[in-house]
Amino acid sequence: MKVDVLLGLQWGDEGKGKVVDVLTPRYDLVARFQGGPNAGHTLEFEGKKYVLRSIPSGVFQQGRTNIIGNGVVLDPVLFREEAEALEKSGVDLRHLLKISKKAHLILPTHRLLDAANERAKGGSKIGTTGKGIGPTYTDKVSRNGLRVGDTLHNFKAKYEAARNRHLDMLRAMGEEPDITALEEKWLAAIDYLRTYELVDSEHLINKALREGKSVLCEGAQGTMLDVDFGSYPFVTSSNTVTAGACTGLGIAPNRIGEVYGIFKAYCTRVGSGPFPTELFDETGKRIRDLGHEYGAVTGRERRCGWIDLVALRYAIMINGVTQLIMMKSDVLDDFDEIKACVAYEIDGKRVDDFPFSIEEESLKPIYVTLPGWKTPMSQMHSEEEFPQAFRDYIAFLEKELATPITIVSIGPDRKQTIERHHSANA
Ligand code: GDP
Ligand code: IMO
Ligand code: MG
Repeated sequence: MKVDVLLGLQWGDEGKGKVVDVLTPRYDLVARFQGGPNAGHTLEFEGKKYVLRSIPSGVFQQGRTNIIGNGVVLDPVLFREEAEALEKSGVDLRHLLKISKKAHLILPTHRLLDAANERAKGGSKIGTTGKGIGPTYTDKVSRNGLRVGDTLHNFKAKYEAARNRHLDMLRAMGEEPDITALEEKWLAAIDYLRTYELVDSEHLINKALREGKSVLCEGAQGTMLDVDFGSYPFVTSSNTVTAGACTGLGIAPNRIGEVYGIFKAYCTRVGSGPFPTELFDETGKRIRDLGHEYGAVTGRERRCGWIDLVALRYAIMINGVTQLIMMKSDVLDDFDEIKACVAYEIDGKRVDDFPFSIEEESLKPIYVTLPGWKTPMSQMHSEEEFPQAFRDYIAFLEKELATPITIVSIGPDRKQTIERHHSANA
């Protein structure tokens, strides 16, 4: 059996949680492979809304095994909050969820270091989610991290050594925090975490594959936030691309099957960093209002702009995307005109391939303007109902991106998802 991957092609918040939930019935296992509680994945069904941070979005479909993989960084306190809320709403999490012993732990001091690093950067801060993601991955790579499996043996001493090292670092940055209360809560959450099934998830997944089971990997963040290929240094600290599913779960590259690349019909970004098609005018504000573009985790305003096909083509290439999923097209239902950036102009020259830097002062997007469809679409049930101008928009994107759009999302609810039977224009 093959492993399919679903991941974001922009700067995150494309709607991954919603679509993973919709696709889960087709899979036996759903697994997160990177990131941590910097993610906020929203699902809506039966009039209820849930936001998941570290737990995979497959937990609402009965009987699926959900895995938090080795590539994830886990904050026990936030995990506990999330898990207890799910259990309260009737999800039998203890039977559904398994956690890799190799996943790294976010310590209270990692969060303090995240904040201190941001303060030290001043005007050039990254605008992180403040969840300790960067410092935790830094410790992983510098071989100082603590893993979920460490909680099973002689944990206190390992924890104290790591904490003391962090406190020294904070002192060197002029900070003297009192972490007593934070630490107490965190250690209690470690005890809670230990009541879950902690596994060697690479063995579990490969065994499942040998038995003919299927796996869906759920990406967090987006390709433009990838530590290697995103808009560095304004990125997150993990590999958000398809390759991240291999290292973050122990899946061999030749096991990867379909790669679902998910994008919004426009583009958003939260935090600092370059965003070539950002709109600072009324149109940007209108997209933000209609799309409710405020962060699921931090509540921060998301920056909004037109779709960027230069960046999307790059993301499709890096990820080996086989199918595209377009989200939030309903947000553009009432626009007279829609723009799409097809190339950049840098120093007066046209650039078609995504360049080393998109921070150049002279960079200007080159737009194509398309007519809007001016039709409310959020109550539609099949692609046959799509207005012609919307079909033309899809055909335009499929041609520019050389990849079929197989699913179109027209609202936040599970039901507002339209599968296209065939991709006539691809
Ligand atoms: P994720 O991080 O990729 O899972 O995405 P988020 O949950 O952070 O952000 C997506 C937001 O858009 C959520 O509030 C969803 O409920 C909402 N959403 C998802 N798909 C659609 C859609 O097709 N139309 C509209 N209007 N909202 C959507
Ligand atoms: P989901 O999975 C959008 C952004 C932050 C910041 C940068 C680094 O919901 O799509 P970090 O805390 O990771 O060190 O922050 O990355 N960022 C996200 N933006 N969606 C996310 O996740 C994000 N996770 C991190 O805003 O710019
Ligand atoms: Mg999100």
